[in-house]
Amino acid sequence: MRAHLQRAPQILELLKKKTVGLQHCKPTSSVCVLDSKDAAGSAPCAHSLDSIPGPTNWPLFGSLIEVIRNGGLKRQHETLIHFHKKFGKIFRMKLGSFESVHIGSPCLLEALYRKEGSYPERLEIKPWKAYRDMRDEAYGLLILEGRDWQRVRSAFQQKLMKPTEVMKLDGKINEVAADLIKRIGKVNGKMDALYFELNKWSFETICYVIYDKRFGLLQDSVSKEGMDFITAVKTMMSTFGTMMVTPVELHKTLNTKTWKDHTEAWDRIFSTAKHYIDKNLQKQSNGEADDFLSDIFHNGNLTKKELYAATTELQVGGVETTANSMLWVIFNLSRNPCAQGKLLKEIQDVVPAGQTPRAEHIKSMPYLKACLKESMRVSPSVPFTSRTLDKDTVLGDYTLPKGTVLMLNSQAIGVSEEYFDNGRQFRPERWLEEKSSINPFAHVPFGVGKRMCIGRRLAELQIQLGLCWILRDYKIVATDLEPVDSLHSGTLVPSRELPVAFVPR
Ligand code: HEM
Repeated sequence: MRAHLQRAPQILELLKKKTVGLQHCKPTSSVCVLDSKDAAGSAPCAHSLDSIPGPTNWPLFGSLIEVIRNGGLKRQHETLIHFHKKFGKIFRMKLGSFESVHIGSPCLLEALYRKEGSYPERLEIKPWKAYRDMRDEAYGLLILEGRDWQRVRSAFQQKLMKPTEVMKLDGKINEVAADLIKRIGKVNGKMDALYFELNKWSFETICYVIYDKRFGLLQDSVSKEGMDFITAVKTMMSTFGTMMVTPVELHKTLNTKTWKDHTEAWDRIFSTAKHYIDKNLQKQSNGEADDFLSDIFHNGNLTKKELYAATTELQVGGVETTANSMLWVIFNLSRNPCAQGKLLKEIQDVVPAGQTPRAEHIKSMPYLKACLKESMRVSPSVPFTSRTLDKDTVLGDYTLPKGTVLMLNSQAIGVSEEYFDNGRQFRPERWLEEKSSINPFAHVPFGVGKRMCIGRRLAELQIQLGLCWILRDYKIVATDLEPVDSLHSGTLVPSRELPVAFVPR
């Protein structure tokens, strides 16, 4: 956003010109090769940002009207896929004054990855920063930049990204999964609000891992503290979107309801998180701690304030994304009984009856991993991520100036026929045959490079173990076969209650 302000004169100039029909200036970068000019980082004949094709760019509105006509922001992900089909692997778009360049090809992602600096940046989340600045709190991984980001990231990296460390968390993950299974049984197989239950499952798991604390969210009567905590996270997430597209300073000055709800929600999140982090560190000094947070705190060169902020953001980043991915894999298995049967057989072959599935078992379950991968490809929970270029960068045929906001559209790549035959079809087998023919940059549901999701391994293990528990006890059946669309609401959520039931085996 800062970079946008710096480029305001350029943007005004473009608005004056009304760049209608930009798409005709230059053919799209359809040749997806990493050539020597890309590798060298300089391209004497690369074209400028202005010549990137894209939808009609009207004064003041940019392409907002077209986006609204195609179903609005809730269907923006489908519109972006449509734009990629129309304009190619790279296109440029403005929504009001917000300008971005969209990347939808594995080789452009790879080119970007190879040119990435030490501290890649994403689009700023201004409302979160405004809250932290107001309360004099620190920033966490989702909003930190530069050396501070790298320092905090390295403090958490070992515990969350090293496979052997994450495997140690399977005991806690299983305890919560066992509660989820009882819950499915108690509501007679069919859960009315499956998504809410899954959110409670992922919330409970991450709290248990981070704070070593059970909130009992999957019990019949949930404690007020647990309910307040989960509601605060929901409120915080549902209020920041508005302040991303309208000036947060204005909300703050006018003390709008959105700003008040947002700050109250963060206050609640921080006070609960601080309480349990302090308790954990206290336990450690008494020599009785679970070592997750205290190890990070003592070995990671973090201040307490940084620990509070980073921990809170782990929680915010990890709850809905994991619940959402689990929801879609349940849905995809309900519609693909053959795949479900094959998966059950693998689980039964690897985990002896009566034994608890462990992280060690997952290593011998290629079909389980393929099912999750395939589900995240056809039904991603996060359709795109962003980068703000920290230097002039040549991508494909174009030189993009420092400050350009890139949207990396993993969903558009994932469903493209160019990279996946029958791209919309759920076929886990594709990951197990001719593996090498799938470009690794064609499947990036957790992002790319140094800033990729730090919770990836935890989320994968949690969902994989969760599926073992569910499939052993229940057959997942589709209750109708009508289409289920996805709507953009931070993550991609189903457009209606999932037509899924759990039938005890
Ligand atoms: C299936 C579940 C999940 C999905 C689909 C997902 C997806 C993503 C994506 C796409 C990004 C952006 C990466 C990029 O810009 O390249 C991200 C970042 C992040 N995620 Fe996840 N995530 C999931 C689970 C989790 C979990 C469980 C946690 C916490 C333990 C977590 C914490 C974070 C954090 C802190 C970042 C920012 C990392 C940084 O900038 O250094 N995520 N995630």
